[in-house]
Amino acid sequence: MKDKINELLERVENFRPKAVAEIEDFRVRILGRKGELTALMEEFKSVAPELKREFGQKLNELKRRAQERVAALRAEAEQAAGEASSQIADMSRPGSEEELGSRHPISLVRNQIVEVFARLGYTVADGPEIEDDWHVFSALNFPPEHPARDMQDTFFIGKNPDVLLRTHTSSIQVRTMERQQPPIRVICPGRVFRNEAISYRAHCIFHQIEGLYIDEGVSFADMKQSILYFAKEIFGEETTIRMRPSYFPFTEPSAEVDVSCNLCGGKGCNVCKGTGWLEIMGCGMVDPNVLEACGIDSKRYSGFAFGMGVERIAMLKYGVRDLRLYFENDVRFLRQFESAL
Ligand code: PHE
Repeated sequence: MKDKINELLERVENFRPKAVAEIEDFRVRILGRKGELTALMEEFKSVAPELKREFGQKLNELKRRAQERVAALRAEAEQAAGEASSQIADMSRPGSEEELGSRHPISLVRNQIVEVFARLGYTVADGPEIEDDWHVFSALNFPPEHPARDMQDTFFIGKNPDVLLRTHTSSIQVRTMERQQPPIRVICPGRVFRNEAISYRAHCIFHQIEGLYIDEGVSFADMKQSILYFAKEIFGEETTIRMRPSYFPFTEPSAEVDVSCNLCGGKGCNVCKGTGWLEIMGCGMVDPNVLEACGIDSKRYSGFAFGMGVERIAMLKYGVRDLRLYFENDVRFLRQFESAL
């Protein structure tokens, strides 16, 4: 009997269930009414009186161990089940919302502007941000001593004065004219770089959209009408424009374009500084020198060009007072444009 007790004790200690159901089977087989321990208890009745004390203690010990083992295995199984179920999502929990990104306001406005000119037959042209002197200055009729060529305005890369960051996307227009004969109708959006102190109204990096239209018999009136159409599409049907004489090396005559202030309707407010007008772009008839430099016959063809800052248009359109907000990527600012086109 002693052997039987020891053998059973050993089995209790070494029992490793592979499934939860085996724990209950094990309990029934050993502790159950018809179990092995119950059978041993029965056998115990016929043990010699002098051995009863020793065997009795052993049997009690075996019973206690078996009960403890079953309880411990059950607890272990429950804990494992709990962990497993907590890994499966709680289906009653509210879902976490998938945050949708949104377009940057500068992209929104650029797309709108490109779309307006696309309706007038303009296609988008692209060019490099790192340029040479010819495409940014020389081909555009900048005299050698022009201040824009100075370090003060232009970022040069390294010591070579012929490797620089474009200060305007007019360089794309030069590249287009070099590649293609008229009719030309292109819109040139892109990043530009100027060595300027950063403030609420200026940044060393900003975005421009320039346009170029060259064909036979293109006139100043065509330019004016195109720009008026653009202004109405972007700032509203009631918008009017005015042109003030200006100067650019690459256009003659040149003009600055103002739109009627869309905030006060032209009456005068602090955005338009009481004038009722907001400056939005520069423009002019392409200088014959530029056409010739790019291989276009200036006797046969004429054209106009215009250029604007996307940040400026976006500021006026959305009433943003500080240009730096467009570069800080503060989502509290950017989120406000989610619903826009
Ligand atoms: N390139 C000019 C600028 O960067 C803008 C412009 C383009 C003016 C075309 C006139 C004609 O300021």
